Amino acid sequence: MACPDCGGLIDVNYVWDRLPVPASLREFESRWGHRQDPIDFSGVWRFRELLPFAANDRIATIGEGQTILQQSSGVGQYVGMNAGRLYLHYEGLNPSGSFKDNGMTAAITHARMAGAKLAACASTGNTSASLAIFASTLKLFDVLVFVGSGKIAYGKLSQALDYGAKTIQIQGDFDDALCQVRAVCSKLGIYLCNSVNPFRLEGQKTTIYRVLEGLGWEVPEWIVVPGGNLGNSSAFGKAFQELKQLGLIDRVPRMAVINAVGANTLYQLYEQRGLRWNGGRPDEQIIDQFYRKMADDNRRAVTLASAIEINRPVNLNKCLRTLDVCDGVVAEVTDQEILDAKAQIGSGGFGCEPASAASVAGAKLLRERGVVAPSDRVVCILTGHQLKDPTVTVAYHSSSNQEARETGGLDEMLQQHGVIDTRFANRPIVVENNFDKIMDVLQGFG
Ligand code: F0G
Repeated sequence: MACPDCGGLIDVNYVWDRLPVPASLREFESRWGHRQDPIDFSGVWRFRELLPFAANDRIATIGEGQTILQQSSGVGQYVGMNAGRLYLHYEGLNPSGSFKDNGMTAAITHARMAGAKLAACASTGNTSASLAIFASTLKLFDVLVFVGSGKIAYGKLSQALDYGAKTIQIQGDFDDALCQVRAVCSKLGIYLCNSVNPFRLEGQKTTIYRVLEGLGWEVPEWIVVPGGNLGNSSAFGKAFQELKQLGLIDRVPRMAVINAVGANTLYQLYEQRGLRWNGGRPDEQIIDQFYRKMADDNRRAVTLASAIEINRPVNLNKCLRTLDVCDGVVAEVTDQEILDAKAQIGSGGFGCEPASAASVAGAKLLRERGVVAPSDRVVCILTGHQLKDPTVTVAYHSSSNQEARETGGLDEMLQQHGVIDTRFANRPIVVENNFDKIMDVLQGFG
């Protein structure tokens, strides 16, 4: 799915003036009245006029995109916002538990149009879970998923296995797995479902339509999104650019893309080395130099937010376009900041997996730096479900500071990733199987 001339990624472009585009985004609301029709029920395809590449009878849907915009005063306070200004957009409600289903329905639809017999992806876990659930539910073709070894959260691996996908565990990380799957797909003519596939991004645009819908079609000041392979941020920028071009919104919001410190290629290139979209001609030398040094140092991505443990984001250039369109900023946050934010999201909303919490940790950082104003309306995208990675969540909550003081250490995995403080831990209270002892513990409760 790369341009044969320049090797760059392909983009889906529409000749809008030949297509039936609604006069107002409010027109999409009428689709709710026809929810018994699967393509009106889908939170992706009910916006189909904005991703008009498939005939209605080719659409492959499993009811994705039933996601929720939630205002959270608790998390808003943590971030430092004025009351009512912080929103969490929870994509964990998708059938496979992450935003990936938005893009996968579009990729699978296109694969079906192209007559694919076999589809594949590499994944840090969520893309594979998503491809596998589409395969098991729709039975359109067999799928092959490539994951890294020891680099995938168990909840996600269990999904791929349980949905029956042939799963190849590469002795390497995501960057290795993606490189291999691209080669395998090109050699064997397999349909590739990673976000190098431009149709994935078409589906992922719809998160933005649902965010706007949740805000009564008003544009917020900020969208904050974790950055891994940069598919989501790329799709979001394209969504806003098109809505503006079509006259469906009058301005675009600012976008903040948040890297983990241990996987911070975008941050390094954009904020430290000044790489810019530059009208579609980013300075390739800056990128090449950066990757050459990375290879020389044998530097690998390392973060507890395993979903964004990626050092070579394939959508880098498209994300630069987003940052250009949305006057964007990039920030990096530590695993400590990510896990603290995650605990706040858990106690103040639906919860999420570690990578998703990078958005809230990033919003807090940008608020502290004065980039985000307390009166701004900020939407943080929570990309994946809380139960995707219970190992990290349990490690954080069961390893309280008190225990650390008493036993001289936190959970080893947390420590290795620089998490030395679990200030928001909600530790289980261990009590004997004895009524009186239980009552003692409950004194003053309720
Ligand atoms: N959040 C979650 C929960 C993810 O699974 C991913 C990516 C991201 C954020 C980053 O999004 O790549 O669009 O910048 N997960 C991929 C996977 C790469 O294989 O599941 P991005």
